[in-house]
Amino acid sequence: MSESGAQATKLNPLQYLSETLQDLRAKGVAPKLRVLEGEQRPVCLFDGREVVNLASNNYLGLTTHRALRRAAVEAVRKLGVGAGAVRTIAGTMKLHMDLEEQIARFKQVEACVVFQSGFSANAGTVSAILGKDDLIVSDELNHASIIDGARLSKAAIKVFKHKDLADCERILQENTSFPGEKLIITDGVFSMDGDLAKLDEIVALAEIYGAEQTRRALEDALEFQAFSCEYVANLLEQRQRLLPEPGALHLTRRQDLLDLEDLN
Ligand SMILES: Cc1ncc(COP(=O)(O)O)c(C=O)c1O
Repeated sequence: MSESGAQATKLNPLQYLSETLQDLRAKGVAPKLRVLEGEQRPVCLFDGREVVNLASNNYLGLTTHRALRRAAVEAVRKLGVGAGAVRTIAGTMKLHMDLEEQIARFKQVEACVVFQSGFSANAGTVSAILGKDDLIVSDELNHASIIDGARLSKAAIKVFKHKDLADCERILQENTSFPGEKLIITDGVFSMDGDLAKLDEIVALAEIYGAEQTRRALEDALEFQAFSCEYVANLLEQRQRLLPEPGALHLTRRQDLLDLEDLN
């Protein structure tokens, strides 16, 4: 650090943060939060400009669905506006348990845990089920949150080329005598390219290389939405034929057309 830099740090110990930020701004990569005014809808107002929103996770338009609005207002009336603590201390409410039970039934699985974000789900689960003596075999295009969860677990991480099952098999072969648990982990729908994992082949490989020792994890953040969106698109197409109107805007209005019954 230069003398003047050292002097500035003495005066302001957080000076290095301002400098880092300035540097990021100069490179055009400083993070900037976009501010939404009003409701989260397909066409909405961000930073005062009307835009088509292709960046949210509100694929099914549920943020403004009338049945969900009613249920949320009712819940606030009955239960207040917060759990008062994190789930693991004193904030687990019957509402959480009911939701998890319903999701497990819908997904036809034994049980379910709801996290506040996909990121925390991956960081929380991967690091909870594996430890430093284990091995994670991971597709190179897995979501960043899987990679962070894997790092947090302290397990060894081996990456195979995207959807390249021969490369995945090479790693399994090289680690046949690995003593710990092994986990092959993949996105179901890859978030950047939208392509699908070759699940049958991954399961087959895990079975060849000792299914009791080689676990499989499927990260399913997008599948439900992707297939439901296809379903929604079909539904809209049908309705479009019944109610002809200039085409594209229909998608922006899907929440007006959808009833929850349509999703079941
Ligand atoms: C496949 C996948 N996993 C995890 C995440 C992280 O989810 P979140 O943004 O809720 O943290 C995303 C986000 O888009 C995703 O596409």
